[in-house]
Amino acid sequence: MNPAAAGEPLRVGVAGLGTVGAGVLALLRGNRETIAARCGRPVEVVAVSARDRRKDRGVSLDGMAWIDDPAALADRDLDAVVEAIGGADGPARALVERALARGIDTVTANKALIAHHGAALAETAEATGAHLGFEAAVAGGIPIVKALREGLAANRLERIYGILNGTCNYMLTDMRETGRGFDAVLAEAQALGYAEADPGFDVDGVDTAHKLAILASLAFGGRIDFESVFVEGIRGVEPADIAYAEELGYRVKLLGVAARGEDGLAQWVYPCMTPRAAPIAAVDGVLNAVVCEGAGVGATVHEGRGAGAGPTASAAVADLVDIARGVRPPAFSVPVAALDRPPAIPIARRVGACYVRLAVVDRPGAIAGIAACLRDRAVSIETLTQRVRGPGGGPGGAVPVVMTTHDVEESAMRAALDSIAALDSVAAPPRLIRIESL
Ligand code: NAP
Ligand code: HSE
Repeated sequence: MNPAAAGEPLRVGVAGLGTVGAGVLALLRGNRETIAARCGRPVEVVAVSARDRRKDRGVSLDGMAWIDDPAALADRDLDAVVEAIGGADGPARALVERALARGIDTVTANKALIAHHGAALAETAEATGAHLGFEAAVAGGIPIVKALREGLAANRLERIYGILNGTCNYMLTDMRETGRGFDAVLAEAQALGYAEADPGFDVDGVDTAHKLAILASLAFGGRIDFESVFVEGIRGVEPADIAYAEELGYRVKLLGVAARGEDGLAQWVYPCMTPRAAPIAAVDGVLNAVVCEGAGVGATVHEGRGAGAGPTASAAVADLVDIARGVRPPAFSVPVAALDRPPAIPIARRVGACYVRLAVVDRPGAIAGIAACLRDRAVSIETLTQRVRGPGGGPGGAVPVVMTTHDVEESAMRAALDSIAALDSVAAPPRLIRIESL
């Protein structure tokens, strides 16, 4: 009789006991009976690993073996391991590779690891019959991996986009609501356990790019191609832009957008202005949201908390429940050999509207010079306002000029901005934020 049928415990090792790992322990303990009932067997953590054995984790480690080297968890008599260390390489990768190679079912919250090595890890899992689960790696508590791999499996999806980083959404929301500066708001997101160990991954858009590459592979059936993702983070978003966006009827969000067409796969991450009436514009704070669009199903919208101990543990434990139940779909919906390699569509080919803020010396002919640069690249202005001196201006008393354009190809917009930046009357590099019509 197999262990599951006999109701024997699923013996789990957890590596990493920070926000996520400790959250997994707390959830398994807090919901012990419910989880056992759903699995048909108890789930027991029998071994753990982290760096500092003496640190108070806020959860009891009684009865669990302490292993100094996380990769050595794979040498124990375990049914599953949970990797909650982080990092695309190092101990996290060593543990996951070794566990899968030994046929141990593996759950990870580590999007960097999956974005860089997911296809190779899934190949190892296929070879040994192990399961690789990474629900917790994307969009926190939203079961978006399961939605794409299972619930939407009948559809040919065309586009998927979303707010995929809780830290950035929390920061942009707070900056809008309170007018506070970037550094203070980032410190708060770190204290709440939302940010990565290196918060540069959050604010520079890399974390969103990791997640987008994973979602694109699941949605469109291509081998993960993180290297091709265009990435722009939120460091350049100033309070003045957030305020002008509100005046114009938009809200600034860091979005990941992936679309598959006949000519390839677009994977773009950038802060953008979304119409205030769009459902995604109302997704605030640490919430994430993912919209999947397909011809048959239309648009499905998935929303929930995108970071923090509770939501992430919910997703990781859901993977353990699947393992305990013997549910083991291919990691990327199809066997790795069936994933194709679509060419990347560069950001230069994006067509869409843009918001531009310029710092312009207030003198006759200044706007005419700017308009000529736009005309020469066939960029059509939709709105243009010269503001009085104030936020968003520039050196030497330059005033802010805020404009929006009609749809334009990115390459033309960039060329026009290069010409504008070279004008004597323009006192600082132009600021561009894309507008998504959604
Ligand atoms: P964290 O709070 O910094 O915890 C990391 C844990 O890994 C700590 O317990 C640390 O040990 C341990 N660790 C680090 N280096 C180690 C090493 N060389 N050997 C052994 N243990 C080591 O990080 P986290 O926020 O929980 O994130 C963990 C993973 O989950 C990352 O991949 C992250 O991207 C992902 N994730 C995080 C969230 C979130 O909201 N925080 C959400 C989704 C996914 P010590 O405690 O002893 O220092
Ligand atoms: N740092 C990540 C975020 C954690 O803020 O979304 C969740 O993946």
